[in-house]
Amino acid sequence: MKPAVLFVCLGNICRSPLAEAAFRAEAARAGLAAVADSAGTADYHVGEPPDPRAIRTAAKFGIDLAGYRGRQAEAADFTRFSHIFALDQSNLANLGRVAPAAHTAHLALLLDLVPGREGQSVADPWYGAEEDFEVTWDEVSAAARGLVELLRR
Ligand code: 4NP
Repeated sequence: MKPAVLFVCLGNICRSPLAEAAFRAEAARAGLAAVADSAGTADYHVGEPPDPRAIRTAAKFGIDLAGYRGRQAEAADFTRFSHIFALDQSNLANLGRVAPAAHTAHLALLLDLVPGREGQSVADPWYGAEEDFEVTWDEVSAAARGLVELLRR
């Protein structure tokens, strides 16, 4: 079975679409077959494309996010995906609350994949500036590289 990875933030329009895109790019580069998706714990932006700042940031790295649409994480995700990564501590706690008792997905914090950043959150760039989205991109890319290494073992 190929790995199926879900990235989860609050709105699914800033951080988790970038995490999904970074993982897709790293997996493709490594020749790793994997399913990838992203979701939000909140329903504020269901059906909406990513934030324009996230779209522009990904575009700088040759990645097109325009077709992505927001959705809310749901109980079925805990069996459909082998791995679920929360972008921050608050969303990890919220996911823990909605996880069905008999779930099979491995649930963890995204930055646990980055040596030296274990336990840390990817800061929410929503209230920030365009440069904050580049910091997000760097963080999710480092995590994506760590995840591809882990899944290839
Ligand atoms: P995200 O950022 O969780 O990285 O997608 C946010 C997007 C929207 C909101 C909060 C965070 N909001 O409050 O609408």
